[in-house]
Amino acid sequence: MSKRLPCIVSGLLAACSLAAAPGDQTLRQAAGNRFLVGCALSPNDLTDPKHAALIGKQFSVLTAGNDFKPENLQPSLGRFTFDAADQFVAFAQANDMKVVGHTLLWHSQAPKFLFQDESGQPLPREQALANMKEHITKVVTHFKGRVIGWDGVNEGVDDAGPYLRQTPALKAIGEDYIQKAFEYAHAADPSVELYYNDYNIEKPYKFPKALRLLTALKDANVPIHGVGIQGHYLVSDTKAIDELDKAIGAFAELGLKVMVTELDVDVLPRKASGADVTLREQGADLYKDGLPADVAQKQGQYYADIFKVLLKHPGVVTRVTFWGTHDGTSWLNNWPVRGRTNHGLLWQRDLTPKPAFNAIIDVLNAK
Ligand code: G3I
Repeated sequence: MSKRLPCIVSGLLAACSLAAAPGDQTLRQAAGNRFLVGCALSPNDLTDPKHAALIGKQFSVLTAGNDFKPENLQPSLGRFTFDAADQFVAFAQANDMKVVGHTLLWHSQAPKFLFQDESGQPLPREQALANMKEHITKVVTHFKGRVIGWDGVNEGVDDAGPYLRQTPALKAIGEDYIQKAFEYAHAADPSVELYYNDYNIEKPYKFPKALRLLTALKDANVPIHGVGIQGHYLVSDTKAIDELDKAIGAFAELGLKVMVTELDVDVLPRKASGADVTLREQGADLYKDGLPADVAQKQGQYYADIFKVLLKHPGVVTRVTFWGTHDGTSWLNNWPVRGRTNHGLLWQRDLTPKPAFNAIIDVLNAK
C-alpha cells in the first residue's frame, strides 16, 4: 500500500509513492482492482496544489467536467481546439490515472452548426451525418490510446416523451443518430470502449425507455460496451438505491458493463430529480454555514448504501466517478437553484474528508 504525495513532473503535479500511514487509505486503494474510482475535474481544480495532490492520490480515472464536450473541442465549424483537453490528459497520465471522454454527443453544450442551419432549422440528414462523423472521427482519433472509453451519446432518452429526446441531432438525422454515433466512434478507434450515459435511467419513469434503447442497440450489433448511470441522487430519495440495484442487474443481462458516472448526493431540498440542466427553481439555502453533523452522517450512510449495491455486482460495475471532489466544485451549487451552498460530495470546501468519505472506505474494506 502506498501513500501518494505531490511532486512536480514536467511542470505538472504528479504523485510520489511513500509508505502509508494507518487510516490514510485512499479511495483507489480501497477499491483495489474491483472497479476504477474517478472524479470529474475542471481546470481550476488543479491551480491549488493541495487540491491537485488530493485528486492525484485518491482517484484512478478522471473525466473532464467540460473540456471534452463538443462546444469546447469544436468551437466553430471545422476548427478543433484540443489544448485544454490535452493538458487534462497530461495531468491524468502524470498521476497514473486513466481518462474517460465525456462526451461525443450531447444536446447541451453542443455547437448548433453540427445539426442546424443558421435559422435553427434541422440540416439535411446527409449533411448532419457528415458533420457528426467529422466531429466524432477527429476527436476519437486525436485521443486514441489516451482515453479508455467515451460517453458516445449523453442523455438521449426523453424525460416526458415516450422514447428518445427530440434533440437537434435526432431532428436532422432520425432515431438512428445514436447508432451512427457509436459506429463512427468505433471505426475511429476499435479498441476504445463506448458507453451510453444518462440520468434517472434507473427510475421507473425512464428505465423502460432506456432499456428499449439499449436492447435495440445490442440487437443491431452496435458497438456499445457499457452504460453510464449518472447517479445524481437526493438524500431524501429512499427508493433510488433499490432502483439502482435492479437497473444494474437488467443492464448486465444485456451484456453491458455498468458505471456510475456522475455521482453526488444532494442534501438540499429540490423538486427536480436527475440532471436536466434546463430546469430552474427557487429553494432554501439551508446549510450556508456548514452541514449539520446529523445530515452529514445521513449522507454518509446513503453513499455507503450505494457502494454496497455496487459491490453486489462484481465484474459488472467497472467504474464509479464522482461529479467533483470538494463541495465547492459541485455543479449543485448552481442547479436547480442558483447560488446555493451545497454539500453533495466527499470533501468539505477546505478539503477535509466528510463522513461520506469514511463511510465508503469502510464499505470497501468490509468486503
Ligand atoms: O466557461 C465559462 C466561463 O468562461 C464563465 O466565466 C463562467 C461563468 O458562469 O461560466 C463558464 O461556463 C460554465 C461551465 O460549466 C464551465 O464551468 C457554464 O456557465 C456552466 O453552465 C457549465 O456547467 C456545466 C454543465 O454540465 C452544463 O450543462 C457543469 O460545469 C458540468 O458539471 C455539467 O455536467 C453535466 C454533465 O455534462 C452531464 N450530466 C449532467 C451534469 C451536471 O449538469
